[in-house]
Amino acid sequence: MSASASPSAPQPRPRTGVWLIGARGSVATTVVTGCAAIAAGLHPPTGMVTETPAFADSGLPALADLVFGGHDTLDCPLPKRAETLTAGGVLPPGVATAVASELAAADREIRPGGPTRGDTRTEAELIDAFAADIRDFTRRHGLERTVVVNVASTEPASEGRADAPLPASTLYALAALRAGCPYVNFTPSEGMHHPVAAREAERSGLPYAGRDGKTGQTLLRAVLGPMFAQRALTVRAWSGTNLLGGGDGAALADPAAAAAKNAGKERVLADTLGTVPEGEVHIDDVPALGDWKTAWDHIAFDGFLGTRMVLQTIWQGCDSALAAPLVLDLARLTARAHEAGLSGPLAPLGFYFKDPQGDGPASLGEQFAALVGWGERLSSADAGSSGSESAHSESAHSESAGSDSAGSESADSVAEGRS
Ligand SMILES: NC(=O)c1ccc[n+]([C@@H]2O[C@H](COP(=O)([O-])OP(=O)(O)OC[C@H]3O[C@@H](n4cnc5c(N)ncnc54)[C@H](O)[C@@H]3O)[C@@H](O)[C@H]2O)c1
Repeated sequence: MSASASPSAPQPRPRTGVWLIGARGSVATTVVTGCAAIAAGLHPPTGMVTETPAFADSGLPALADLVFGGHDTLDCPLPKRAETLTAGGVLPPGVATAVASELAAADREIRPGGPTRGDTRTEAELIDAFAADIRDFTRRHGLERTVVVNVASTEPASEGRADAPLPASTLYALAALRAGCPYVNFTPSEGMHHPVAAREAERSGLPYAGRDGKTGQTLLRAVLGPMFAQRALTVRAWSGTNLLGGGDGAALADPAAAAAKNAGKERVLADTLGTVPEGEVHIDDVPALGDWKTAWDHIAFDGFLGTRMVLQTIWQGCDSALAAPLVLDLARLTARAHEAGLSGPLAPLGFYFKDPQGDGPASLGEQFAALVGWGERLSSADAGSSGSESAHSESAHSESAGSDSAGSESADSVAEGRS
């Protein structure tokens, strides 16, 4: 028996794939750079909830064991994108250079996305091609599983017509199911929310989570809304304005895309206050701000005997630096949920989203408690059963990436039937 085959030889550590849709964007580039920098000990994991002691025994994949790939419709190399983000102050000086080999490795794993202008492929062909890319990535790297995470540009809200083409985010969601992969939608785009994908997700036995990361203005709303409700103060109006640049600012300059984003922001108020107060949310594209966002909220409320008062908040954040740790948390937690045999919408991940899937509380404090409790239960051997209260069924996984799942066939047939 050779030394490598000896029973005492150390086994290679299982690794987990993270397949980013929109892999050349600001958020994705910050995710890949940040993961490599933290794994190398160059920076502390500030902003990563999964790196706090509460999750130490949850059995999450280590940051050093995450392998990145993805789809994008652009071809700007990832190291070049990281250079631009460094020049814009999003990434600290020197970090992109220090992790240049990890950025180059991820860059080699990015495949052309779609549909591109003039693309003649049918929906079924696109789903098939995307799924084949994900399976190929998983097989070549010998990964235990791959989590698909949507961080692509926000799409306009759908027209709601049954015969309308499937949005790209839904084609990718169906491809994830077809490849047997758990799925996270960090954007307000439809993805798994589209009825066609929702049906397939239900049958797939896979866990999924979304949608739209809660990183700034909505994060504050999820804290302040419950405060007003608990103190029995009457909120009369809640108005907000966001100024931002970057790719997200440009995408949200389209009123239909902004409408998709604002629906999530308003849902938080309805859920925490029990009523929708007067007021609107505006999003202005200010290219000069780049990845930096200013969000201003103006809250008019009544106190004792109807005394009128106002709270104003100003949030000045760097969007990708706020989003990246959440994406890493979500990829690790969703991978662990898949390993534990959970399926369906992962309600305990509502902490991370503006428009959470599944039944769960709306206030940040309660969402955090639910997440921590779930993280504790994930540490037990039968995490599948202990998590079943939140993930609606415990059916066995679909086959792992690398072979078609039960859900995949129906995802395929749905798209074939439509094309
Ligand atoms: N704080 C935050 O940054 C935050 C919070 C919540 C949600 N989000 C969402 O995350 C997403 C990414 O934000 P960003 O700042 O990285 O945007 P970005 O414009 O920098 O990156 C988006 C990437 O998606 C790619 N893309 C577009 N269409 C595609 C397709 N069909 N297939 C594959 N790739 C495609 C683009 O080429 C681009 O590289 C947005 O939808 C945004 O709303 C961000």
